[in-house]
Amino acid sequence: MKKSVIYPGSFDPLTNGHVNIIERAARCFDEVIIGVAKNSSKNSILTPDERVYIFKKLFKNKKKIIIDQFEGLLAEYVNKKKIYTILRGMRTVQDFEYELQMATSNNKLNKKIETIFMVADGNYSHISSSLIKDIIRLGGDASNFIPKIVEKELRKKLLKKG
Ligand code: PNS
Repeated sequence: MKKSVIYPGSFDPLTNGHVNIIERAARCFDEVIIGVAKNSSKNSILTPDERVYIFKKLFKNKKKIIIDQFEGLLAEYVNKKKIYTILRGMRTVQDFEYELQMATSNNKLNKKIETIFMVADGNYSHISSSLIKDIIRLGGDASNFIPKIVEKELRKKLLKKG
């Protein structure tokens, strides 16, 4: 039986930390489904379609990595996909409380759902999408934290905005 996992997130933007988790997950599972959450936060820097486009370009030759998007509850998306294992990355103890709440809530919503955690590689545990958003909005250089394609798309977007 195929071992599949859903790796959900906002990925706004996708960071080197996310990429590291995805590549490691692809070594543990037969299939890693990236669930890009279509949340409509005013604070977003990239649209869901732009995030999906970036993923598709970055992982275009990786057969095990499937790019998808979802709207609404994660528990419902998982149910629809019939893949009940959720993967989340854990960077620091600060992530723990939020992740515990999410994992427990998802399991209460559907008993079949299990969340597993992958500890962030020490090289990436300081990276967060919100920090990167700040760096970019304030004109800093985030190139060490994000894949080149993300940097390119963000630049295009910021240039368009003027
Ligand atoms: O990368 P993020 O922003 O930490 O990802 C959080 C995400 C998108 C996985 C979470 O907010 C989510 O599952 N959103 C969908 C709505 C939902 O199901 N909320 C209740 C979670 S228990």
